[in-house]
Amino acid sequence: MKGVILAGGIGSRLHPLTKITNKHLLPVFDRPMIYYPLQMLAAAGIREILIVTGGNSAGDFLRLLENGEEVGCSIRYAYQRGEGGIADALRLARDFAEGDRICVVLGDNIFQDSLLPARQAFENQSRGARLLLKEVSDPERFGVAEIHGGRIVGIVEKPARPASRLAVTGAYFYDETVFEKIARCRPSHRNELEITDVNNMYLAENHLEFSILEGWWTDAGTFDSLLRAQQFVARSRGVHDILGS
Ligand code: G1P
Repeated sequence: MKGVILAGGIGSRLHPLTKITNKHLLPVFDRPMIYYPLQMLAAAGIREILIVTGGNSAGDFLRLLENGEEVGCSIRYAYQRGEGGIADALRLARDFAEGDRICVVLGDNIFQDSLLPARQAFENQSRGARLLLKEVSDPERFGVAEIHGGRIVGIVEKPARPASRLAVTGAYFYDETVFEKIARCRPSHRNELEITDVNNMYLAENHLEFSILEGWWTDAGTFDSLLRAQQFVARSRGVHDILGS
């Protein structure tokens, strides 16, 4: 299985931090954000990785990570022009995937849990996709999965009235049909190709499975969530409450 990390976009929700660098190179405690998805994939034995990035700072990924030796991976790079959304960025991984199954991780998502159990469950699936869901207190910020009888029955992107508290996190397992599905996507109201539309295509074929995460998970694309990411990681390194009372 190969890995794809999506690290493009202009990070407008983090201006001015992202005016001079890419969001995924910002520090999260003691390392740049992109290290977390990289290390998560490597720890699950997924070491052939494509990083899709874009914008003016794309060259900095090469300077930071080179070919991936330091993080124990073999890294290749693709460049996304413009801001076409997650599914548009993933489109660029088609040649890299070469018909293999892929694990896709959003470059601003940080997970406590190992990917291994979900990877193994996906390997036991004969086809389709597998999502990682996490119960959250603010589901309206995410793609939200509705579950009935142990199956996903629908996913809605950023619903005003969420059908559950189960957010679709930014780690996805896909079979080789994902690229044909992306080709069928049409731009959403925010003018992006939505990964939620791709996931709903798998659902329409009845080939969409899920795993539920127990550990903490956060994105880091807003000031609040970036701070939360810092605090989760600091705590996991044994640094607690540095301001005291
Ligand atoms: C994206 C996806 C959303 C998912 C989230 C996870 O949202 O569209 O379905 O729940 O990542 O971080 P965005 O970061 O584009 O708002």
